[in-house]
Amino acid sequence: MICVSKKKSYLKSQNLKIFGQGKLNGIVEISGAKNSALVLLAASLLTNEKIVLHNVPRLTDIEKMCNILRNLGVNVIEKNNKLELDSQNISIEELPYELVKGLRASFFCIGPLLSKFGEAKVPLPGGCNIGSRPIDEHINGLKALGAEILIEEGIVKAKIKGEKSKLIGTHLKLNCPSVGATETLIMAASLAEGRTTIENAAREPEVQDLCQMLNKMGAKIYDSGKEKIIIDGVNKLGGCIHKVIPDRIEAGTFLITAAATSSSITISPVIPNHLEAVTNTLQKSGSKITIKGNSITINPKELKAVNINTAPFPGFPTDLQAPFTALMTIANGESKITETIFENRMNHVHLLNKMGANIKLNKNVASIKGVNTIYGMDLIASDLRSSAALIIAGIIAKGSSRIYGLEHLDRGYENFESKLKILGIKIKREFVERGFTNKEYKISSNTDEIPKTRAA
Ligand code: EPZ
Repeated sequence: MICVSKKKSYLKSQNLKIFGQGKLNGIVEISGAKNSALVLLAASLLTNEKIVLHNVPRLTDIEKMCNILRNLGVNVIEKNNKLELDSQNISIEELPYELVKGLRASFFCIGPLLSKFGEAKVPLPGGCNIGSRPIDEHINGLKALGAEILIEEGIVKAKIKGEKSKLIGTHLKLNCPSVGATETLIMAASLAEGRTTIENAAREPEVQDLCQMLNKMGAKIYDSGKEKIIIDGVNKLGGCIHKVIPDRIEAGTFLITAAATSSSITISPVIPNHLEAVTNTLQKSGSKITIKGNSITINPKELKAVNINTAPFPGFPTDLQAPFTALMTIANGESKITETIFENRMNHVHLLNKMGANIKLNKNVASIKGVNTIYGMDLIASDLRSSAALIIAGIIAKGSSRIYGLEHLDRGYENFESKLKILGIKIKREFVERGFTNKEYKISSNTDEIPKTRAA
């Protein structure tokens, strides 16, 4: 018997309300790098001693990773942007899927757990809105280091082959310079027996930051940031204190926003050579860039259309492709944006066109004809960097916009709207609680339970 009763439910949603045609002015503080902090947290599993991380950005992805470590028995103490990690009581229980889903970076745990305990069980990281995100490079590399890998019911089960208690160093050559695979294999090789070389390694600053912290812990890693990295395995890794590098993607997002609004701002702290491809491109498009120590000042003079192809570091970062596409919608002339890293990272294009942009998309190539004006709209972001692109578009646009899908934004930008507000942008986070009645269906065989209601 089915009965229907009325039940009040509430839909809580939040959005960013942006008043368009804004200007930025002043200095903005850049947070620690999300894509460094996540892998450094995983690396804490490699030691029984205390790791202290400074300049950790407060993001939902970081919170999720901390919970995964806690589930493994790591004692995590959070004090604002400082984390203390004590891994002496780790258990290698299987990571629960509820904790892992939606955080690809959880897969970073497999290398340290396998290398330190001889086995690891980590759920397969799913794909996401920007692509299938395979892990074949991780798996092939771990197998070459002496691991047996089974994937059963969505769980990657790894163990060191035979009676060996350690992985064995070897020569590895990646088919593509995968950031995550490079980091997984560096962490696994750091406690292996003998030397591992990784050819066609990723050179991103976040990989270099990981190597710097591991060397502080007693690892022997050479030539990080180069195409071939050398790791001489050691018996044990100790604790250390480490400061996370500044987030080059957040920094680039603010520079692009300044260029889009013809605003002059200064960003700090940054490591300028982490942003060279971005600052060179912005100079080509008409902005004056001044570098002084760990700060960069941008002075846009005009906005010319320029072409970009995303590429592994030191090329133009794929994580800034969407924000740069938003910038090019109002540039003088025609530009071509080619995404070469991920197969589905153009989700923002059709939304920018709804705002009045003129972009033709052919697979991963966006051909943009600059327009004078785009118009504010209510839009839903579908991934982290698209949400930044839509916010930039909302700031450029005539009229106001509401940007939804903030769960994506909050994964990767610390206090984003507060920083924009301090720079002079009229932006606020709106919390909307919409009540609505919905029909609640209850199935019961006992008629006494069923409230008196009109039969369907
Ligand atoms: C890291 O992802 C970053 N995430 C990404 O940032 C970033 O976009 C990406 O590197 C590229 O720079 C973190 O560091 C947590 P990849 P990752 O492995 O490691 C292919 C953001 O917005 N590939 O370098 O997953 C893959 O399909 C996020 O902050 C394989 O084929 O990226 C992709 O086409 C998004 N096999 C290319 O390599 C593999 O085993 C680059 O992926 C692994 C990757």
